[in-house]
Amino acid sequence: MFTVKKEGDPRANLALMTEMAAAMLEGEGDIIAALANISALVKANLEDINWAGFYILKGKDLILGPFQGLPACSRIGEGRGVCGRAVQEGRPVIAGNVHEFPGHIACDSASASEMVIPLFRKGAVYGVLDLDSPRLNRFSALEEEYLTRVCRLIEDFLEQVNE
Ligand code: SME
Repeated sequence: MFTVKKEGDPRANLALMTEMAAAMLEGEGDIIAALANISALVKANLEDINWAGFYILKGKDLILGPFQGLPACSRIGEGRGVCGRAVQEGRPVIAGNVHEFPGHIACDSASASEMVIPLFRKGAVYGVLDLDSPRLNRFSALEEEYLTRVCRLIEDFLEQVNE
């Protein structure tokens, strides 16, 4: 049902992944089920990704949510790491080399680059989508554009669920 395609035109593949995300969210009413499937979709569709998942803002901390990859730190304090920076700035943050990013939190020592996109609900940050790669400078502006679209779809979904 959710076919993975890695060859061919990167924009077309990202557009297809975004359509699959929309189809996945349609008709789903449970936040954990939705985020779990989106993390699997993203990890399966992008090459050289060792971790893809969500942290949810609870109070001031980011708490580990559904993900694909190795076990990760379960709690990230305010403003800490790439994730905390994305929350503070309210916009996507790309670390081309995590070892040069001040305060980066190393959950998987294989990670070399990272992209974090904040998710909003009712005008405030709800959480983040976090992607890690073992390859330096892995994340492109094109991927940021399409993963931000996926996050906008999740935000539309969050508006409709009652949890
Ligand atoms: N590296 C992140 C922590 C989460 S893990 O990558 C899954 C950070 O610096 O915020």
